[in-house]
Amino acid sequence: MNHMKKRVLYSREEINGRVQELADMLSREYEGKDLVLVGILKGAFIFLSDLVRSMGIPHQIDFIRVASYGSGTVSSGKITITKDLECSIEGKDVLIVEDIIDTGTTLASLKTMLGDRKPASLKICALVDKTARREVEIDADYVGFTMEDGFVVGYGLDCNEQFRSLPEIYVIEE
Ligand code: IMP
Ligand code: MG
Repeated sequence: MNHMKKRVLYSREEINGRVQELADMLSREYEGKDLVLVGILKGAFIFLSDLVRSMGIPHQIDFIRVASYGSGTVSSGKITITKDLECSIEGKDVLIVEDIIDTGTTLASLKTMLGDRKPASLKICALVDKTARREVEIDADYVGFTMEDGFVVGYGLDCNEQFRSLPEIYVIEE
């Protein structure tokens, strides 16, 4: 696993710069709002921690963890919450923070589930948008990087729980 061939796709500098740009946009958008950032575990934990430290406005942080269910490798297109939020989001301005959008299944389901809890607003911020593999229609409101296809690791993203702590984002080369 650790011998997998991989190359840097986004450097530390590129990530830092882009995260700061996103944080600036969010600080303008959510100024004076009752903002709750909802990080999706585990992949978003590093992105979220950098993002909030670059933002200049008050906010709350909460986490949610989901699993997709279905038999074997065939996804049912549904998800289940395995660790729920600890705060109520009713009436709050909620921003879902995700590491990567792939088929779109996770975010589409989660957006519906959280939308049922009557937030004042509900938007999505994704570090990476992998556009070529979309199966469910979902658009992120804020995107760090857009790529076509390929498997990426580092900066919170894993491959079988490996590589999350790498400071750069790498693409795995077969
Ligand atoms: P989706 O429901 O198909 O959009 O899948 C989203 C989830 O799959 C993400 O939250 C990641 O945990 C995982 N994932 C998808 N693509 C990658 C990747 O390239 N690297 C690491 N994790 C990925
Ligand atoms: Mg993952």
